[in-house]
Amino acid sequence: MENGSAVKRNILVTGAAGFIGSHLVPRLVNNGHRVIGLDNFDTYYDAEFKQSNLKEAGAQARFVQADIRDETIIRSVLSGHNIDTVIHLAARPGVRLSLAEPLPYFQINVEGTAALLQACRNSSVERFIFASSSSVYGDSEGIPAVEDVTPLRPLSPYGASKVAGEAVCYTYSRLYDMPILALRFFTVYGPRQRPDMAIHKFTKLIDAGDEIPVFGDGLQQRDFTYISDIVDGVAAGAERTLVGFQAVNLGGASPVDVLTVIELIARNLRKEARISFQPLQPGEPTTTFANVSKAGALLGFEPKVGIEEGISNFVAWYKERRNVLVGAS
Ligand SMILES: NC(=O)c1ccc[n+]([C@@H]2O[C@H](COP(=O)([O-])OP(=O)(O)OC[C@H]3O[C@@H](n4cnc5c(N)ncnc54)[C@H](O)[C@@H]3O)[C@@H](O)[C@H]2O)c1
Repeated sequence: MENGSAVKRNILVTGAAGFIGSHLVPRLVNNGHRVIGLDNFDTYYDAEFKQSNLKEAGAQARFVQADIRDETIIRSVLSGHNIDTVIHLAARPGVRLSLAEPLPYFQINVEGTAALLQACRNSSVERFIFASSSSVYGDSEGIPAVEDVTPLRPLSPYGASKVAGEAVCYTYSRLYDMPILALRFFTVYGPRQRPDMAIHKFTKLIDAGDEIPVFGDGLQQRDFTYISDIVDGVAAGAERTLVGFQAVNLGGASPVDVLTVIELIARNLRKEARISFQPLQPGEPTTTFANVSKAGALLGFEPKVGIEEGISNFVAWYKERRNVLVGAS
C-alpha cells in the first residue's frame, strides 16, 4: 500500500456519533476529505451522550440520522454524495451485554454489515473499512495475536458477530473486487469513551466513592489503545491504496492489568479506589495483546500514547464534564 495522504476522498462514516466516530470525523475533515456522518442513535447507551459527542467533535461534516439497514437512505447517500470510501463503525458494542441479549448483535453487526455492503456493490464505493475487534480472537492460539491465526475462536456473541462480519467482508471483496480492510481494534479509550467501558465506569465509581466490582483477581491484561492512535490507523486505511481483503490489528501493543489501571485512575482523581472482587465472567479472555507488525507495514501504524498519559487525558476530560456525565449510562 502506498502512502496516499495527499488524496481527497468522499467518505461515509457510519456510527459517526459514537465514541470512535466522533474522533475520526474531525480528523478526516481536517485532512481535507469530504465527510458524511451517519448514525441512528442506537439505544445501547444514552442518545444525549452521542449528541454531546457530536457537539464536542465540532467538525463541519454533514450528518444523516439513519439506520445502516435502511437500504433506500443508504443508496441515496452513496449516490447523492458520490461516496468512494465507507468507514463502517456502526455496531452494537459490548461483550457482556451480548451474553444476555445476543440477537441484536447478529442483527446489527452481521445483517447490518451485509446490507451496507450490498448497497455499496453497485455504487461508486471503491474501498470499505470495517471496524472489527480483538474479540474475534477469544481463546485462539498465540499471544501476541497475529492476524492469520486459525481458527478464530470468539468467546462471546459480540466476538462471533465480528468474525461473521469479517467473513461477509471477505466474500464481498472476493466476489466484487472491492478492497476491504477489517481493522481489529483492541480496547480503545480516551475522552468520550463509551460509558459502559471499564475505564469510564471505574472513573465514575471511584469519583463517587463507590465500590468497583472487579471480576477475577484483576490481573487479567488488556491491550489498551488510545483513541488518537486508533484514529491514525483508520485514517491511514482510508488514505492509502488497499488491495483485496486484509484483517489488521490496531492495538497499543503493551498490555496492562486491570488493577494497575484502577490505581492510575485513582491517582489522577486524587481519590481512593475501593475494590470488590467478583467471580470471573464468561466471555472474557485473560489477556489481549496485539501484534501490530502488519499495521506498521501496511498503514505506517505505531502506537504513540502510553497508558499513563492516556488515563491522565481521560480523567481530565471526565472532570470537566462530570456533572453532565453522572446521569449518562
Ligand atoms: N471501543 C472499543 O474499545 C472497540 C473495540 C473493538 C471494536 N470496536 C468497534 O468499533 C466501532 C465503534 O465503537 P465505539 O466504541 O465508538 O461504539 P459506540 O457505540 O460509541 O459507536 C457506535 C455507533 O454506532 C451507532 N449505531 C449502532 N447501530 C446502528 C445502526 N443500525 N445504524 C446506524 N448507526 C448505528 C450507535 O448509535 C453509535 O453511535 C464498533 O463497530 C465497535 O464494535 C470498538
